[in-house]
Formats: sequence, C-alpha cells, structure tokens
Amino acid sequence: MTNEQLEKLLSELSLEEKLGQLTQVEANFYLEHTGSDVTGPEANIGLAPDDLKLMGSVLNCVGADNCIQLQKAFMENHPHHIPLLIMQDVIHGYRTQYPVPLGLACSFNDDLTEACARMAAKEASLEGVHVTFGPMVDISRDARWGRCMESCGEDVTLTKRMGSAMVRGFVHDGGENTVASCVKHFCAYGAPEAGRDYNNVELSERTLRQTYLPGYKAALDAGARWIMPSFNSIGHLPMTANGYILKDILRDEWGFDGAIISDYNAYREIQWHGAAESMKDVAEITRHNGVDMEMMSATTFLHSKELLEEGRITMEEINTSVMRILQEKNRLGLFENPYRFADKTAAESYILSTSCRELAQQAAEESAVLLKNEGALLPFGKDMKKLALIGPFAAEKGIKGAWACAGRDEETVSVYEGIKTMLPDVEILVDAGCSYNLLNDTPIDVLTANAERAAALAKEADAVLLCIGEYQDYSGEGNSRCEIRLPLQQRILAEKVLKENPNAAVLLFGGRPQDITDIEPMARAILYMWQPGTMGGAAAARLVFGEVAPSGKLSMTFPRSVGQEPIYYAHQTTGRPVADPNIPGAPFPYTSRYLDMPTSPLYAFGYGLSYTTFEYSPVTLDTDTLTVDGTITASATVKNTGNVTAKESVQFYVRDLIGTVARPVKELKDFKKITLAPGEEIVVSFTITEEDLRYWGKDLTYGSDAGTFHAFIGPDSNTQNYAEFKLVK
Ligand code: GLC
Repeated sequence: MTNEQLEKLLSELSLEEKLGQLTQVEANFYLEHTGSDVTGPEANIGLAPDDLKLMGSVLNCVGADNCIQLQKAFMENHPHHIPLLIMQDVIHGYRTQYPVPLGLACSFNDDLTEACARMAAKEASLEGVHVTFGPMVDISRDARWGRCMESCGEDVTLTKRMGSAMVRGFVHDGGENTVASCVKHFCAYGAPEAGRDYNNVELSERTLRQTYLPGYKAALDAGARWIMPSFNSIGHLPMTANGYILKDILRDEWGFDGAIISDYNAYREIQWHGAAESMKDVAEITRHNGVDMEMMSATTFLHSKELLEEGRITMEEINTSVMRILQEKNRLGLFENPYRFADKTAAESYILSTSCRELAQQAAEESAVLLKNEGALLPFGKDMKKLALIGPFAAEKGIKGAWACAGRDEETVSVYEGIKTMLPDVEILVDAGCSYNLLNDTPIDVLTANAERAAALAKEADAVLLCIGEYQDYSGEGNSRCEIRLPLQQRILAEKVLKENPNAAVLLFGGRPQDITDIEPMARAILYMWQPGTMGGAAAARLVFGEVAPSGKLSMTFPRSVGQEPIYYAHQTTGRPVADPNIPGAPFPYTSRYLDMPTSPLYAFGYGLSYTTFEYSPVTLDTDTLTVDGTITASATVKNTGNVTAKESVQFYVRDLIGTVARPVKELKDFKKITLAPGEEIVVSFTITEEDLRYWGKDLTYGSDAGTFHAFIGPDSNTQNYAEFKLVK
C-alpha cells in the first residue's frame, strides 16, 4: 500500500479498531493448540470476545498451519481486514537450535552468527512468523542474572558486532524468508541490582551511554524496526514509562521511526512498580511516552476512550502509534500477502535439514571454550577401547538451552549419542552419577554411594568424560541465582570421579559463567559447551576427539566466587589499585582488594585455549602519532606454534591513560578470527581513528582528548602486549 492508502485506511478506522492495532495478545486467545508456551504471567486481561476481533498482533503461534488458520479467520472477522502481525521469540534458532547467544558470542565470528540468524529466520518465516523478539543485546556483567544466557556478554564491541550480525541475519535484504527484528530489552536490563531479574537498575548517565546503550543503537542501525522496553526501572522509573530514554534519546537523538512494543504485561507492571495509581493512568503515561504496542495487557484498549474524553491524551498521539503499526505491517507486505512466507511443505523440507544441522553443529563447535588442558589431555585418542561417560549430562538431551522457541529436547543430540555415532566401536560406560537438580534432594550417604559407583567405572576406563554443569531450565528469564557454584551432588561426584583416572576431562554445560573454583584444581581439562543446541552432543564428540580444535573465547568473565560479581575486564583502576590482582591483599592493606580472595577472575573475558598454541609478536604501529583525521595501523604477527590447524580470535584493545573522567583499564575495539596451519603465521592489523577514542567526558559531551594511549593485540583481555601512541589535536 502507498502512504496515502495507509492514511486513508487510518481515517476509516473506528477508535476501537485503532486501539486494537496497539494491542498484542497470546495466540491461544484464538487457537486451542498454538504449539507454543505462554512466556509471561498470562491472565484474563479484560478483553471481551468481540474485542479480540480487533487486535493488532499475536505472539506465540507456532506452525505454518496454525499461523495461516489464525490469520485467515481473523481477517475475515476484522471490519477492515487488517492482518495480524505474528511475533515470536526466535532467540537462538526457531526449531534447529544453535548455542544460546552467550555461547555463540564466544565464537567471535560475525559471519557464523549472521548465518545462524539467517537460518533461524528462514525456519521461522516458513512457519509463519513475521517478527522475532530478537536480538537481545543487554550488556551482562553479573552471572547471577539468569538472562545473561540470552545476551552477547559483557563487552560493548562484542555485543554491537554480534547483535548487528543477528539483525542482518534475521532481516537480510527484507526479501524471501526474512523476519523483522525487535531488539531488546531497552535498556540496561542486564544490570539489575543484586543480579535479581526485573530489579531496579542504578546507572550514571555516563555509564548508560558509554556501556549500555551502544548495543541497541547498533542493532537499530543494522535494520531492526522494533524495540522493546525492558521490565526494569532505571533510577526507580520503569522503562516502559521512561520518556527521557524512549523519547528524548530513542526518538529525538537517535531518530528512531520504527515501533516500540512493551514487554509482556509491562504496562500493568508500571502500576505494580508503584509508579502509577491505576491502569487508566498507565494508559496515559505510556501514550505520552510514545510506546506504541501493548503486549499482553489491555490498558490502552480499555481506557483510552475515557482518557480522550477527559482530554488527557490526544487522538493525534493514538494516530501516530497506529500509523507506525500499519507502516510496519505494510513494510512486511502483509496487506498484499497476510501469510507472507508461511508454507508448510517448504517448512517441513527445510526445518532440521542437513544444512541446518551442520550450521548448528559448527556454531556449537566454535562456541565451546577450552578453559584448561593440562598436559594436552584433550583431544582424546580415537583408538581407546573404553570410555567412561559420567555425569547428569552424559546422556541428557536437555542441552539446547532456554528460550528454545520450537526446539525440542528429543531432537537434540546428547553427548552419548554424539560419541556413539562417531566411534561405534568404543565401549561407553554411562552413569549419570547424580541428578542435575539445582538444590540437592538426596541424602549425603546415597550421593556418596552413587558417586563411588560412578568412580568405579572411571577407574576401569581408558578415559573419562565428566559431563556436569547447569541445566537449561536454571538460566533464562526469572532464573537468577545467588549461588553459581555447581550443585552439591555434582561437586561430590567430581571429587570422587576425577581422582580415579588421570585421563579424566570435564565437559561443562550451562547458560552463565559458573563458579567452578572447587573442581578446577581437580580437573586436568575443562571444555565449556554452554547450552550448545540441537547438535550439542555431535559437536562435543568432534571437539573431545580432536576432529576440530576449540576456538571459543569467553564472552563473559568467569569469577572465582559469586562474591566478586559483577566482575568484568573493562573495569576502573580505582585510586588504590591492587598491585598484584592474583595475590590477596598484596602489597599494601589499603587497596581495592578482598582479604580472602584475589581480585582477578578465574578466567578472563576473551580467554580460551586451543589444541595448538599461538605466538604473538610485539605490537607495531605505522606511526605513533594520531591526528584527528588520520589513522594508525596497529599490527602483530600471529604464529601457530603447535601441530594442529586451528582458529584464533585475535583481539584488539585500547587504553586511554588519562581522561577528563576515569577510563577503563582497556576496551575491546575490534577482533579478527583467523585460521592457521601448524607453523603458519600471519600479520593481523587493526586501524585506529580518533573516533575510536571518543567517550562521554566530565561534562557528558562525547569526544576524545589529546593524550597518550596503549594499543593492545592479544589472545584475551589479560594481554599486556601493547604499543604506545599519542592523539594530537
Ligand atoms: C518475556 C520476555 C521477552 C519476550 C516476551 C515475549 O517476558 O521478557 O524477552 O520477548 O516476554 O515472549
């Protein structure tokens, strides 16, 4: 439709029809079996059956048949036959699941991430989905927060790059088998006080702008046409009611002209936050703050008529939001083809196809992070006769991750299945040893007996793979944890099993950084698989037996203890830095330290081992003086000094030594993933411009200072391989 036709349509709509366009409800308000679960606190939201004929959008409708049936019936009943927008959480795959985003970000592979999102968009669009509630680009620096699994981790640059890649994959060229993207959760949802989901966020304007906003802006710049305000309040003001951020920054500063959809029931929760007296007040507040569509509550639909009559909102405000919704539907071609790409036959032949599985497997392989490998214990030799596969995740198929959309555990390859398929002649002794339950519910003597039984298997085997960690349902929304250690029963199992066989490696699963300080000294090798998705077990088999070398680098810092949270590499020095972060209290008592633990993490951001070794030359610069319109090229030669071909994510960090405010000890500015054969070396270069050095200074202006900087090139955020340069003005 042309804009004139849209304007004409708008002018013909009744007030109820307009208010309906601003409301999204669960698909199960229309269909018995939608194939999807409700994703929020569903309740009767006060709509009458006739009201449902006027809605603007549905969420959680899975399956081409369901989407076509729903759309057909709905349009027949709608007075102006305006199609529904069908939206769904396609977070790390639609049916074929790739690793949770926190894991996929460890691949440091933009192209792979984009390809995964592209595959997810094709599966979803063939099944009738128009818009995904993704990517989630909330910076996550606290492992207690369960939704860090959905994020791209702690770093601004990594989040911008991975989030943009996901948007490109979803949206592509807007053509065949694409979906629109709704970036979320705007904003700073990943910084809740105490790591507790939905909690208040306290951030300075500078931290908000420097760290938490850039990821959303990058996703919008990459083509996301929707954005979702987050459940949290910022400085006690609920985000869904935050006009400063939703209007002054998002609309006025950034020029965003797309649509804003609330999170699930978040309108009504403004009242539950205690920031509005009634649902009618909520409808007024959100209207003035420019939120367009209300998800799974009906304050707009039920109270706008009175607000108009009382002059508390204007028809212009309503028309502006309705027009945005109509324009987004029009942009997707829904007026010409309300079913878009829904095609059951095509879906059945593409979904979970070999190409989808192969991509998901590659993603799982490149997301895995080798945390330890003493004496090159891994990879195991394929010529072994007997493998003890122990732990609650040895044969567990629930490793696809939370927020798995239409993904099914029964379609996931377990570790046991992966290894059995690859090495059919190896005898595999399987013993779960204990449950994966978060809280122990078994008497200690039973736990010990079970662990001893498993340890006996370990003793007789040629090698042991201990599969432990956090179950997929213990991360994700609403799943914050105070303790992020392995559950007691797993620690007992690890202690018994790991000492029985020197060839024992740990395969760790989970959706967050975990405190593995207890078992780290006992384990000669630790490979973190995250929640690796549909092909997790197949990827694990190839990694453990060396068909592919691990290349993942941590997207989020692993603490020694939850007491260190939030912990991240781009921290301040403070006025009293600890001289040696690895020695508690050294050397002077009055420093920023812990009495009982080093300040350093167990594993740093960007860290990850390989089956080979890489050597980095000192950093060289083509000039050590940067002018405002000039560039500096920083380079280092990276050499594969081992004996297997492997990938390496070369990381480029910059440190601004002096600012008008304290600056982080270093910040990731770029990264490149390379593949090197044994003995091969390559010069890896990065370009620095004045723009790269800008930050939000003392008076909250965004700019750079003349002065001294360090350019680091290295394998992780601990690197001290740098060269010094100056910016002159
Ligand atoms: C949930 C989540 C959000 C999701 C929405 C729809 O509560 O916070 O990420 O997109 O509801 O499922």
